[in-house]
Amino acid sequence: MADEKSQKRFGMEIKVKEVVLTEFEKVFGAGDGVRAYFAPGRVNLIGEHTDYNGGHVFPCALTIGTYGAARLRKDRKLRFYSMNFSGRGVIESSLDDLKPGKEAGWTNYPKGVMWAFEQRGMKLPCGLDLLLCGTIPNGSGLSSSASVEVLTGFLLRDFFGFPVTNQDLALIGQYSENHYNGVNCGIMDQFAIAMGKKDHAIFLDTADLSFEYAPIRLKGAKIVIASSNKKRGLGDSKYNERRGECETALAELQKVVKIHSLGELDEEGFLTYQDAIADSVRRKRAKHAVYENQRTLKAVQALKEDDMKVFGELMNASHVSLRDDYEVTGVELDTLVEEAWKVPGVIGSRMTGAGFGGCTVSIVEDGSIDRFIQQVGEAYQKRIGYAADFYVVEIGDGPSRLS
Ligand code: GLA
Repeated sequence: MADEKSQKRFGMEIKVKEVVLTEFEKVFGAGDGVRAYFAPGRVNLIGEHTDYNGGHVFPCALTIGTYGAARLRKDRKLRFYSMNFSGRGVIESSLDDLKPGKEAGWTNYPKGVMWAFEQRGMKLPCGLDLLLCGTIPNGSGLSSSASVEVLTGFLLRDFFGFPVTNQDLALIGQYSENHYNGVNCGIMDQFAIAMGKKDHAIFLDTADLSFEYAPIRLKGAKIVIASSNKKRGLGDSKYNERRGECETALAELQKVVKIHSLGELDEEGFLTYQDAIADSVRRKRAKHAVYENQRTLKAVQALKEDDMKVFGELMNASHVSLRDDYEVTGVELDTLVEEAWKVPGVIGSRMTGAGFGGCTVSIVEDGSIDRFIQQVGEAYQKRIGYAADFYVVEIGDGPSRLS
């Protein structure tokens, strides 16, 4: 017997599914063979900018994400429609034109995944019509693009029976993001989405993709996401630059110590070898990668010991490091976090995702959530000049076909 929470969730799923199927008929016409799907968004609790440094991450999938409806075609045409970008109407393409382009807009994400399947020898036998409806705010840092990628991979496997696991779907999504969309992202987002598990976070070692599910039992507290509403385009941001700085720092360290990634060093190791990094800015970047990885290990241990106080302190320290050493926060995220720290009942608060705009994640005691939203919201509006949005979120499962 499903509990009240999952009944509510199931009810919402049916509602969105109906909306998506009705809209699909309106846009692409009636007919048989339409299938509906869902892929979640993700939030990372701790372990930021460690996934391309061979470190650990600790994300979880959310119950908000991307809904999709799709139907195969008899020809090689691709037709896309997003309810989030309805102004753009139907965007047409073809399997013979899987090349990235500015004019393709958001369709670069599903097309990139189709391209990545073909690169792996899995040719798509026919085109399809695809309609999407995202319940994650776009560009908010909750991985709307990775959600679309995993959704696309999932439905291609479902329609064509490609022999790939959910972990492969994550790797295919990342490959498409790296090589089709030009963003050198790590594996965290696609992995968290493809492998999501209700009420669990994923403790993932990005060095070898070994992972473990950790139950998140927040007694008397919830995860609250605050969106800065400052839009962030990963490609435009300094994401690739940060990655390059870490790679250079690693190469400098490798002259004095035998490591494959920054994730192999602990704090002591970093202090011993840091002078090999010639530039002080690069030294700060590498320091963040090393210390953040260690914080993630400690945070997961604290969670196992049910020590939420320590977990929260590590979240706060993560933000400070992202602000001062990695320099990816900015006044919007700093305001949200620094105001959150002032609210009694906030266990921890930090920016989440790539940074440069996007969201913060906070763990807030139930009795303080209203005050948190009001107090942080007012201070943000006053300082930044426009409003932030707040979401009390739940941890959900990975992708699914909606029956
Ligand atoms: C983005 C990337 C991830 C990860 C985070 C920072 O979300 O897609 O791979 O690097 O930034 O932790």
